[in-house]
Amino acid sequence: ISLKPYNTFGIDVNAKYFVSVSNIEDLIDVLKLENHPNKLLLGGGSNMLLTKDFDGLVIHINLKGIEIISKGDQNQGVTIKVNAGENWHEFVLWCLKNDFGGIENLSLIPGNVGTAPIQNIGAYGVELKDVFESCEALSLDSKSIKTFSKEDCKFGYRNSVFKNTERGKHIITSVTFKLTKQSHKLNINYGAITSELNKMGVKAPTIQDVSKAVIFIRESKLPNPKEIGNSGSFFKNPVISKDLFNQLQDNFEDIPSYAVSEDEVKVPAGWLIEKAGFKGKRFGDYGIHKKQALVLVNYGNANGEDIVKLSKLIQKTIKRLFNVSIEAEVNII
Ligand code: EPU
Repeated sequence: ISLKPYNTFGIDVNAKYFVSVSNIEDLIDVLKLENHPNKLLLGGGSNMLLTKDFDGLVIHINLKGIEIISKGDQNQGVTIKVNAGENWHEFVLWCLKNDFGGIENLSLIPGNVGTAPIQNIGAYGVELKDVFESCEALSLDSKSIKTFSKEDCKFGYRNSVFKNTERGKHIITSVTFKLTKQSHKLNINYGAITSELNKMGVKAPTIQDVSKAVIFIRESKLPNPKEIGNSGSFFKNPVISKDLFNQLQDNFEDIPSYAVSEDEVKVPAGWLIEKAGFKGKRFGDYGIHKKQALVLVNYGNANGEDIVKLSKLIQKTIKRLFNVSIEAEVNII
């Protein structure tokens, strides 16, 4: 079957076999199928670039359900367990409807709840780790469920244990969040949000206002995967030494940066890619988004290999021009 509807990049490759599982027992049974040694797990398909047909079994994780575990008084948090196959943004909307705060800044991020911890999704000053309590994952070896605490997950910028020592060893089946009641502290210090809320004319913003501002900002910069295939930021923002940053600043006065530590800063890859002249460039059916250079796009029937080649050209050019290495955030399969 075609995997086009199952990856937000909209790449049209085929899987030899495909199964969608909606409960853990079925998932375990499918994993035990010995006549299918070659398996690919698929969640929301929002952080992958498929480059060729898959000669094996694709397992679509479709575990649904949201459960309120505990709900204290107004000052206490609310604990919510969400199954991996729930769509991330729909979960955000459900929280807004229930007045549960903490993930409003993460509105409109594509993908599913179960894959959010792998890369510690983040935007506008909030990361998944800020609201994460634990997750459950099925071990591919023992076929048993293990709980990972926040410490176990070793979250970092677009990073977790699931991208390192535990890579490929588990399937996250549910995530438990610690959210707050409406009265919670908002994260509105991110420049773009502050100015959007000002434009909206709201003096005492609610979580719903913050979400509205985030949605507005994202829609004005990022392509909607339903219209133009993409996987969000294709690269991570690189962390570089202050020495290198100072050298770059001599040549490029306007280079933006965020503090990381005493001797390191993070530089927006989108700025570097734009400076290198790639922003808005189109090569047939693929290219670099015209409003955000960090996003590579598929205008129709792009081939994954072509997008990989473009990403390598961008990496090489950034290295040559700025002596900075940028790493792909998207998984190339
Ligand atoms: N910039 C440019 N040109 C561009 C894009 C950005 O000069 O084409 C400059 C902007 O002017 C600004 C700076 O880069 O000074 C930062 O831009 P922006 O606020 O758009 O954020 P970003 O660093 O490019 C990161 C995340 C996004 C997240 C936003 C907002 C990464 C890899 N990306 O992008 O996450 O939405 O911040 O918090 O960290 C994603 O992971 O898929 C994603 C979209």
